[in-house]
Amino acid sequence: MLSILKGVFGKNESKKNGMKRNSVYIATSIDGYIADANGSIDWLHSVPNPDNSDMGYGAFTSEIDAIVMGRNTFDTVHGFDMDWPYEKPVFVLSNTMTLIPESLKGKVFLVKGGLKAVLSEIHALGFERLYVDGGATIQNFLKEDLIDDLYLTTIPILLGGGIPLFAKLTAVQAFELKSSKVLIKQLVQSHFVRNRKK
Ligand SMILES: NC(=O)c1ccc[n+]([C@@H]2O[C@H](COP(=O)([O-])OP(=O)(O)OC[C@H]3O[C@@H](n4cnc5c(N)ncnc54)[C@H](OP(=O)(O)O)[C@@H]3O)[C@@H](O)[C@H]2O)c1
Repeated sequence: MLSILKGVFGKNESKKNGMKRNSVYIATSIDGYIADANGSIDWLHSVPNPDNSDMGYGAFTSEIDAIVMGRNTFDTVHGFDMDWPYEKPVFVLSNTMTLIPESLKGKVFLVKGGLKAVLSEIHALGFERLYVDGGATIQNFLKEDLIDDLYLTTIPILLGGGIPLFAKLTAVQAFELKSSKVLIKQLVQSHFVRNRKK
């Protein structure tokens, strides 16, 4: 139960009432895949980035309170040969994971169930602006019209197959383009905001 974590986070988290947002910040191939047919994301680094641009990632993550990711994405990141990259709490959606690796205790929390219930629990802990990550996870959020911002960075490559970012929806969802930038002369990063009035 996440409710026991209230004592962990207490009042340290700033309350940002009315700022609940679920945001996606993700890179895709031209043909809309987030991982190739082998599940690899090596192609994300196919464009030279000599000045180590963070592609706006630091600015984006400074505006979020916590991350909600699918278990497959957790496994990918945890498998990288590097230190845990997230400073903010990470809520991992999983029906199968039962244990959090010792080194990640206090940083990673397991959640499961209906997304609206999961979101209520996370909001109750004071985390309102959420970074939603993972293909199936983003698709599940979109199915329930729970995504407010899409920051999509297109890498100039056709993968021909792999894990798609998008899946079928039962209803159209309108978005507004807030900005579009060319990064390192090769990538296009667009910020779309959900417009529920249309
Ligand atoms: N291109 C990019 O920028 C980018 C970004 C992120 C990820 N990726 C790649 O995308 C791939 C991962 O995406 P993915 O589509 O395979 O999956 P994912 O969304 O990361 O994980 C799916 C898993 O999340 C769990 N899950 C989702 N919703 C749940 C819910 N409501 N309750 C309980 N569990 C829930 C389930 O785990 P259990 O099976 O444990 O129940 C499910 O199998 C990786 O290859 C990763 O590297 C790429």
